[in-house]
Amino acid sequence: MNKALNGKIALVTGAGSGIGHASALAFARAGATVVVSDMLLERCEAVVSEITREGGSASARQCDVRDPRQIDALFQTVLESYGQLDCAFNNAGVGGPITPLAEYPDDAWSEVIGTNLASVFHCMKHEIRQMVKQGAGSIVNCASVTGLNGMRGMPVYSAAKHGILGLTKSAALDYAQQGVRINAVCPGVIHTPAVDQWIEKDPDGARQFMREMTAREPIGRLGTPDEVASAVVWLCSPGASFMIGHGLAVDGGYTAQ
Ligand SMILES: NC(=O)c1ccc[n+]([C@@H]2O[C@H](COP(=O)([O-])OP(=O)(O)OC[C@H]3O[C@@H](n4cnc5c(N)ncnc54)[C@H](O)[C@@H]3O)[C@@H](O)[C@H]2O)c1
Repeated sequence: MNKALNGKIALVTGAGSGIGHASALAFARAGATVVVSDMLLERCEAVVSEITREGGSASARQCDVRDPRQIDALFQTVLESYGQLDCAFNNAGVGGPITPLAEYPDDAWSEVIGTNLASVFHCMKHEIRQMVKQGAGSIVNCASVTGLNGMRGMPVYSAAKHGILGLTKSAALDYAQQGVRINAVCPGVIHTPAVDQWIEKDPDGARQFMREMTAREPIGRLGTPDEVASAVVWLCSPGASFMIGHGLAVDGGYTAQ
């Protein structure tokens, strides 16, 4: 087993499901002690149990990333407990409504921007401050292929994910010479529990969307959470030491077309 992150402390937000869950497990398998954070504590605890059963090390921290005060408290407890933070995956996010802009509900703007984009800004502040003190650290933000290109029906989500790439690239430049590497992953459509829930709620709409997305995927299938997780862990590993300010598409070739 690759133990590239032995002795490191890694934080994952939105770690209770999907890409975050797979990434928390992958960080632990790479040897890191994982801070498993999610707005739902029971989800964090389930992931911690899974890591512990595999012989890894992890702890649970409830945090709703829409609230900057909860983010402040999260980093305070992480640093009190561990005194260091080496890897951070700012992953928590929500898709929001699927509707063209003119019909987009006003109240969903702040929900989607707050959860996906403002949260990354607030988390990065804490992460960068600590990593600059250490003279080392790696941050990965979860963008999307919708942060590289537009997506019909998802104007605000796409704006948030474009914004994440702006934060990623600009901050990466500011801290490149202080040992802090900042990158992003841009997943294509990944088959997560969120996708399954959507299929349950709107079977016809979701299945049609999935068929369309699969047809547009050069690889001919959707991605898995593990495939994104391995890119995240690699970006945090010494093997990625020359990766700075990059938005890595993990998308089966979707954006290569
Ligand atoms: N699934 C995809 O196809 C896909 C594609 C590109 C990007 N992404 C991005 O990947 C990330 C994870 O998505 P996923 O598909 O794994 O989702 P998911 O719904 O399976 O998991 C998201 C987790 O985040 C948590 N969460 C939601 N809001 C939160 C908040 N305010 N504070 C803290 N935790 C919160 C949820 O409780 C859940 O455990 C998101 O940023 C999403 O935008 C997903």
